[in-house]
Amino acid sequence: MAESLSTSTHKGLLALPNDDKRKIIFVATALCLVCSVLVSTAAVTLRTLQENNAQNARKMEILKVAGLHSPGEDVDAYFNQHVQTKMVDLNSGNYIENFDVATFDERKAAREHDSSIELQAEQDIAGIKRRTNYVRVYLIPDQQGKINKIVLPVHGYGLWSTMYGFLALSADGRTIAGLTFYEHAETAGLGAEITNAKWLAQFPGKQALDPQGRPLIRVNKGPVNSDDTEANYLVDGISGATLTSIGVTNLMHFWLGELGFGPYLGKLNQLAQPNNG
Ligand SMILES: Cc1cc2nc3c(=O)[nH]c(=O)nc-3n(C[C@H](O)[C@H](O)[C@H](O)COP(=O)(O)O)c2cc1C
Repeated sequence: MAESLSTSTHKGLLALPNDDKRKIIFVATALCLVCSVLVSTAAVTLRTLQENNAQNARKMEILKVAGLHSPGEDVDAYFNQHVQTKMVDLNSGNYIENFDVATFDERKAAREHDSSIELQAEQDIAGIKRRTNYVRVYLIPDQQGKINKIVLPVHGYGLWSTMYGFLALSADGRTIAGLTFYEHAETAGLGAEITNAKWLAQFPGKQALDPQGRPLIRVNKGPVNSDDTEANYLVDGISGATLTSIGVTNLMHFWLGELGFGPYLGKLNQLAQPNNG
């Protein structure tokens, strides 16, 4: 009875002339309802796909920064074959065993008080406010199973945004093997040049740390003079983007320092062999 009443009301509304206000409101409301149902259904059903795509994109970045990217390969399979994922406790610098590395979310952990620390202003050179206590690192063994490269996730504030990337180090834990950024909102043509392959190509071979483990690598203000005694730890500044460039230096110093991977890198010789766990 109620249904036939409502159906006849709809029919009655649809029979009205097109410029009748009641019909316009009815049609607009019905259209909004249909569209919102369609959009929310698409959002829910596509979420898993989006998460998988984002994970695969990160795996591709890790492979690329380690010099392993091979277009056409199945990213997941290639990643699992060539990369060993380990969880590091940043406070101790040790690996944590029996940790569900696949589902761990460092960004979420950094927001939660029991899995992160708050950084004091003088400590927070990367502008990240809180630092997760646990973080995944990616080990790349050579054909003999010896660790050849280590890929570390890094992030820090530029001029407008937090820049997320990966820093690859050679097995000595001091020489840079690559740097990449996969997420930021710096200005196209200025700060966004941090993703320019030519600029990033300056990093491999540069020294990240001095022999005492102190961070050295720095984005210069302007181009680097190859005769400069510091040239092995300087890369050219990005012109018109000094503030983003400073952000890159700061985030590298933070993550290479004592509150970042410093304790882990200091123990690398004892820890890095995959069979040592
Ligand atoms: C619209 C606009 C966008 C800018 N975006 C950036 C940026 O993404 N990164 C950056 O370092 N500087 C950016 N700047 C420039 C900075 O405000 C600042 O002038 C610059 O970092 C100084 O660098 P320079 O000494 O190399 O000129 C932008 C400026 C304007 C007007």
